[in-house]
Amino acid sequence: MTETPPPFPPASPIPPFPSPGPPPATQAAGLQPVGAPAVAAPVWAAQVLDASKVYGTGEAQVRALDHVTVGFEHGRFTAIMGPSGSGKSTLMQCAAGLDRLTEGRAFIGDTEITRLSEKQLTLLRREQVGFVFQQFNLLPTLDARENITFPLDLAGRTPDPAWMEQVVQTVGLADRLHHKPSELSGGQQQRVAVARALVERPAIIFADEPTGNLDSQSSAEILRFMQRAVLDYGQTVVMVTHDPIAAAYASRILFLADGRIVDELLDPTRESILARMGNLGA
Ligand SMILES: Nc1ncnc2c1ncn2[C@@H]1O[C@H](COP(=O)(O)OP(=O)(O)OP(=O)(O)O)[C@@H](O)[C@H]1O
Ligand SMILES: [Mg+2]
Repeated sequence: MTETPPPFPPASPIPPFPSPGPPPATQAAGLQPVGAPAVAAPVWAAQVLDASKVYGTGEAQVRALDHVTVGFEHGRFTAIMGPSGSGKSTLMQCAAGLDRLTEGRAFIGDTEITRLSEKQLTLLRREQVGFVFQQFNLLPTLDARENITFPLDLAGRTPDPAWMEQVVQTVGLADRLHHKPSELSGGQQQRVAVARALVERPAIIFADEPTGNLDSQSSAEILRFMQRAVLDYGQTVVMVTHDPIAAAYASRILFLADGRIVDELLDPTRESILARMGNLGA
């Protein structure tokens, strides 16, 4: 069922990027040709290989992902940018195992999720993946606190009280914990969605425009918190954003256009992101 992913081919024209640390035994052993220089391979928290996603048929067919090969390193904050409709949400959902690829393979850690049954996939997601949905996906009958702890409740786990407190403070929801989603503003609902992903401390968090509905101050607090989770705790975060200021919190940015990865930027600044977006006409 599980299978060691093949070595990750860098998607041209994107240059290889530096590894955050030594490769795991599974990737180091057996995969290097004999006599090849020992280059430390990045450690992938998730990856998709030659991944395509086609929606609809005939005239209405849309190729939302077009042969994408990309890995998300452990302990890195990666941002995904690109025009509306370029496939950002589709890539995140397929990489997170929330949707199935039409072609290609997807891995979370060493597990090929494209081979799992729905039940196996649900269990793996519950254990390893946190997802902040673009449309929040809160449960209307539960209050904010119950929504935040819902995935942990499902897994029969209780939140670490100190961490829960820290997350709730950071997202600024302490006085809204007993409100239902219908009693919360759009921004507050978004903060509940972010807290729900953070509180689980999953191996990897996918966040689809997690600050799209927030003012700049709330946005900065959440982004700093995610950045600290990456730097201090080795959390892996993959975030979609349209906002160069938000993207500058990441240490790597992938640019999508028409279902393909067309560019990559390492150690970005707001200025370098704006320049790159200008070049891409985004
Ligand atoms: N369920 C679906 N059925 C049909 N087409 C879809 C579906 N979901 C997405 N698409 C199409 O796939 C393409 C990529 O959509 P996706 O949601 O991944 O874009 P996006 O980059 O996240 O855009 P945005 O920035 O607007 O959120 C779009 O052309 C979209 O219309
Ligand atoms: Mg989207």
